Amino acid sequence: MADTLTITDNRTGKTYEVAIQDGTIRADALRQIKTGDGDFGLMTYDPAFMNTASCRSAITLIDGDVGILRYRGYPIEQLAESSTYLEVAYLLLNGELPNQAQLEKWTNDITHHTYVHEFLREGMKGFRYDAHAMGKLVSMLGTLSTFYPESKNVRDPKVRHDHIIKLIAKMPTIAAWAHRHSVGRPYVYPDNELSYTGNFLNMLFRMSEPRFRPHPVLERALDVLFILHADHEQNCSTNAARAVGSAETDPYCTLAAASAALYGPLHGGANEAVLRMLRAIGDIKNIPDFITGVKAGNGRLMGFGHRVYKNYDPRAKVIKKMAHDVFAVTGRNPLLDIAIELENIALSDEYFIKRKLYPNVDFYSGLIYQAMGFPVEMFPVLFAIPRASGWLSQWQEMLGDPEQKIARPRQIYTGIELRDYVPIAQR
Ligand code: ACO
Repeated sequence: MADTLTITDNRTGKTYEVAIQDGTIRADALRQIKTGDGDFGLMTYDPAFMNTASCRSAITLIDGDVGILRYRGYPIEQLAESSTYLEVAYLLLNGELPNQAQLEKWTNDITHHTYVHEFLREGMKGFRYDAHAMGKLVSMLGTLSTFYPESKNVRDPKVRHDHIIKLIAKMPTIAAWAHRHSVGRPYVYPDNELSYTGNFLNMLFRMSEPRFRPHPVLERALDVLFILHADHEQNCSTNAARAVGSAETDPYCTLAAASAALYGPLHGGANEAVLRMLRAIGDIKNIPDFITGVKAGNGRLMGFGHRVYKNYDPRAKVIKKMAHDVFAVTGRNPLLDIAIELENIALSDEYFIKRKLYPNVDFYSGLIYQAMGFPVEMFPVLFAIPRASGWLSQWQEMLGDPEQKIARPRQIYTGIELRDYVPIAQR
C-alpha cells in the first residue's frame, strides 16, 4: 500500500488522502482542501523555509544529526584527502569524477579563461580605496554579464557550459584584483602555469619576483578549503541563485545575486566574528568567564552551532587538522590555543551538550585565512570563489528540472483590505 496521509477537515467532515513520497507531501496536494467558497485551496505557511523542500537535488547530501556531508555520494573527508578543487567542481557539475583525459581538458579549459577583459580592470578604478571586497565582487560579476550578452541563452547547454567555465576561471582573478585594489598594489595577471589555487595566490601576493612560487602546503590548504566550501545544498546563497536563475537571468547576474546573499553576516561572515571573539577573549585564563557570559545570554559562542548540523560539522574536523600544517609554515596563530581550549571547555559543558552545539566550518577557517595573510574582508570572497561551482551546479540542475518554474512564493496578506484614495490635503 502506498504511503498516504489522511487529513480530516473538522469543519466539513471531509477526508483527503495525500501521498507521502521521500518523507514529504506535495504542498499543492493541499489545494483540494478549500477553506471557503471560491477559495484557492489550503496553502502552507513556512517563513524562512524551515520545513519546505524547494527542489529535488542529486548534488549534495547533508545528514546534520550524524555530521555527514557528501558531494554526489562521495564523503567530504575523502574528497578533502584525495581530490582537488577543480576535480570536485567537475564532480558537482557533471555528477561523476572525471577520468584523466576529462580532467586534463577541464583543467585546461578553466586555466585558459582566467584572464578578464581589460575594461574590468578599468572598472575597478571606480571604487573608493576602502570599498569592501565583497561589494566589488558582486559588482564585477554584474559587469561581466555585460561583456557576455549571449550568456542569457540559458536554455542552450553549450552556452551554459561555456559560461560555467568562464565563471569558475575568472572568480579568482576578480577576487584577487579586488584585494589588490584595496591595498593599492598593481594587478597581477594570471600565471597559467600554476594550479587554480597557486595562481590565485600569485595574483594576490606576487610583488617584484619574476615568477611567483606558491608554498605547496599553503596552495594545498587553500585547495582543501575550496573543496570544503564548494557546495552545501539549499543554503541562503544557493537558494538565491536558484530563485534568481529561475527567471532565466544570465549566470553572471545569478552569481552576483548569490554572492550578495553570501555577503550577509549571518551567512558568509561568521569566521570574521570568530576572530573578533577570540581577540576579545585575549587569553586562555579568560575563557571560563566568557563561557559563563554566553550561558547567561551575553552573546553567542561564534563558530558554534548550525541550523542543520547537530553534531560536529565534518568540515570543521578537516580544517582543525589542517590548521597545524598551515601554522607549521606561517607560524602559529596565537589565537589557535584559545580556540582549542574554548572548544574543549564548550564540548564538555552541559549547556552546549544539551543544545547539540558543536564547532562549525567557521570556527577554525578564519584562523587559517588570517595566518595565510588574508585580511578579514576577503573571508567571504574566499567562500564565494569555490561556492561558485556549487551555485552553478544547482543553477544548472534547476534549469534542467521539468518541475521547476519561476520561483514565486505565495503570501498571507495582512494589510488593509480596501480603502479609497485620500487627497494629500486631507491626510
Ligand atoms: N552560542 C551559544 N548558544 C547558542 C549558539 C551559540 N553559538 N547557537 C545556538 N545557541 C543556543 C540558543 O541560544 C538556543 O538556546 P535556547 O534553546 O536556550 O534558547 C539554542 O542554542 C538553539 O539555537 P537557535 O538560535 O534556535 O539555533 P538556529 O538553528 O536558529 O541557529 C546558528 C543556528 C545561527 C548557526 C546559531 O547556532 C549561531 O548563531 N551560531 C553562531 C554563529 C555562527 O557560527 N554562524 C555560522 C554558521 S555556519 C555558516 O553559515 C557557514
